[in-house]
Amino acid sequence: MSPALPSSVLVVGSGGREHTLVRCLLVSPARPRVICAPGNAGIAQDAACFPVKTEDVEGLVALAQRERVAFVVVGPEVPLSLGLANRLHAAGIPVYGPTADGAQLEASKTFTKRILLKYKIPTAAAGFFSELEPALAYLRTRPVPIVIKADGLAAGKGVVVATTAAEAEAAVREMLAGSKFGDAGRQILIEDCLYGEETSILVVVSGRDFVILPTSQDHKRVGDGDTGPNTGGMGTYSPAEVVTPALLARIEQEIVRPSVDAIAAEGMKFCGTLFIGIMLTASGPSVIEYNTRFGDPETQVVLPRLKTDLLALLWAAAQGRLAGFRLDVKPDYSLCVVVAARGYPDAYPKGDVITFPAQLPAGVTIYHAGTARNAAGQVVTSGGRVLGVTALASTLPAAAAAAYAACDALQCASKYFRRDIGARQLHRQ
Ligand code: AMP
Ligand code: GLY
Repeated sequence: MSPALPSSVLVVGSGGREHTLVRCLLVSPARPRVICAPGNAGIAQDAACFPVKTEDVEGLVALAQRERVAFVVVGPEVPLSLGLANRLHAAGIPVYGPTADGAQLEASKTFTKRILLKYKIPTAAAGFFSELEPALAYLRTRPVPIVIKADGLAAGKGVVVATTAAEAEAAVREMLAGSKFGDAGRQILIEDCLYGEETSILVVVSGRDFVILPTSQDHKRVGDGDTGPNTGGMGTYSPAEVVTPALLARIEQEIVRPSVDAIAAEGMKFCGTLFIGIMLTASGPSVIEYNTRFGDPETQVVLPRLKTDLLALLWAAAQGRLAGFRLDVKPDYSLCVVVAARGYPDAYPKGDVITFPAQLPAGVTIYHAGTARNAAGQVVTSGGRVLGVTALASTLPAAAAAAYAACDALQCASKYFRRDIGARQLHRQ
């Protein structure tokens, strides 16, 4: 461990990912002061929170300066794409998170697809369109299912996996001729459908150096058995054993190393998390997308499994000293059940009081996401994804049992969660 770890850290964001980051930074042997903006009701129990919005780049830089923080760790994609890291660099404040050029890898699906194709990194074939007629003509040449993607950030709603030609055409029309997606839909990708299991590979990147974090698998659909609309993620577990050591080595060689090199070759000085969404197809792993931040709720299961000091890892990345960094991982399994407000990802109520059990099962941690305090000081729901109920145990079934026992013991009128997080791996065992 470097003796010169930062003495204070600002974590930017307000979700379960940020609550996990705060908790994991607080246990660093360096004992840093950790603050957060804007945070949530749970984060506020662990760290001082400041009411600066994640889109308020100037406000966040001013906060970092006023509080004299030595390091900033950025959670969500929006401030990154707005250039928060650029502004912090200009102010001389070290930051973990890419500058706006690197954040384009998440903010623009066409930008990323061009890089994947240029560097021959495995990914689905795709056409690029900004005009309706050529897009419709291309559609007629492709089989269904087919995937239609709006170019820009659309909070997970810019992807339609169309199972019929009519559905595909409607999605294309809505994106290119409608107004629902605004600028995000001005360009689209029409992409061949990939089949297989998905896995989330989180990579800490610093220039051409990288450290691959433990594997995980998300559950994106809202309903049990992967039914219903896509969400930000309803639950995760780690490790994802479908990614065998041999497969991980292949992913590193065919996807991670070429991706990191491609990003550097394109002139980006990337420092931050490259989160690679991968489909494990019959013919091999294929990139679905890049995100340029930690995943949510992947973070909730990946970071608690690190024996390595998270602060030392992120600081090494920010200082360009990641080469040779050795990661130590606990042998435990982790599983996170997202407790959402019933109705999410569509309309859902806010302000429902949450009553927490007096005692949690061993190994369980509840990370807060959409929570706030009401005038009476009670913790209430304030977002679609409310809590990440996470358990660490020596087996996956034990982690699932502990997490679900805690979910059942929570009281909240609008409580909703999937009952089958981890089922794929649990049934494989
Ligand atoms: P994204 O917003 O890029 O994360 O996509 C959301 C989800 O759509 C992914 O997690 C996949 O489940 C699905 N998806 C995206 N691209 C494809 C594809 N080419 N084939 C099959 N499913 C896809
Ligand atoms: N859980 C998926 C994401 O963070 O985008």
